[in-house]
Amino acid sequence: MIVIVSAKNLVKRYNGLTAVDQVSFEIERGECFCFLGPNGAGKTTTMRMIYGFSPVTEGELSVFGLSVDRDIRTIKQRIGVIPQENSLDPDLNVVQNLTIYARYFDIPRRDVENRITELLGFFQLSDKREEKIDRLSGGMKRRLILARALMNRPELLILDEPTTGLDPQARHLIWDRLKELKTQGMTMILTTHYMDEAMILSDRLVIMDHGRIVEAGIPAALVHKHGVNNLEEVFLKVVGRGLQE
Ligand SMILES: Nc1ncnc2c1ncn2[C@@H]1O[C@H](COP(=O)(O)OP(=O)(O)O)[C@@H](O)[C@H]1O
Ligand SMILES: [Mg+2]
Repeated sequence: MIVIVSAKNLVKRYNGLTAVDQVSFEIERGECFCFLGPNGAGKTTTMRMIYGFSPVTEGELSVFGLSVDRDIRTIKQRIGVIPQENSLDPDLNVVQNLTIYARYFDIPRRDVENRITELLGFFQLSDKREEKIDRLSGGMKRRLILARALMNRPELLILDEPTTGLDPQARHLIWDRLKELKTQGMTMILTTHYMDEAMILSDRLVIMDHGRIVEAGIPAALVHKHGVNNLEEVFLKVVGRGLQE
């Protein structure tokens, strides 16, 4: 097994707050690894450390066997990121957003055009090439961000709540595309609040609460272990039913 991401006793502190608290995990090549947990559990903070957006406070974190402290530029060339918040340039159209993004990577000009055509086709956006961002639906924006994340042909895709707020059709279309990427061998890290999404897409998952991993395993095995009917019941058993505060 080839380990793509390895975290050992990973910690992130913001002033007095410990957002990620001694977290350890290994993500293997070709798997979809999911982070579940209530709002504020530390999922996004963990993702951000993996893609080099947020410095690690303590512990060890490597991606492709490279240190996120020393080799983040190399790592960034090999990953694709779907951040929790949409981050498209509203002044540009669809193709321009992808073109500008491609400039962060040394992709030859002709390849950029070919990839844009290919990826817009893959995400059913071919007829939106010239559309301004604010005229796209929520599902289209999310698909465009996915297309953007694939421009540099990444080996690892980091998906922070890729389908939050989308209608069922839009979610299913994205699941379908993610499943296709998985069959092509893509390694994926996923966070979601949708238990059906975690069940359908993830090979292994962890549940985080208050910055810590409180449960980990294969989705179906966790349902069995806790003697419940579905993943949502596992989640509620592990993190409790009450509000956090
Ligand atoms: N930039 C930041 N500065 C200070 N606190 C932060 C920052 N980002 C996140 N936090 C805090 O860290 C904790 C974990 O947040 P986050 O990782 O976004 O959780 P999740 O993605 O699981 O909802 C929360 O208490 C949040 O308020
Ligand atoms: Mg988050």
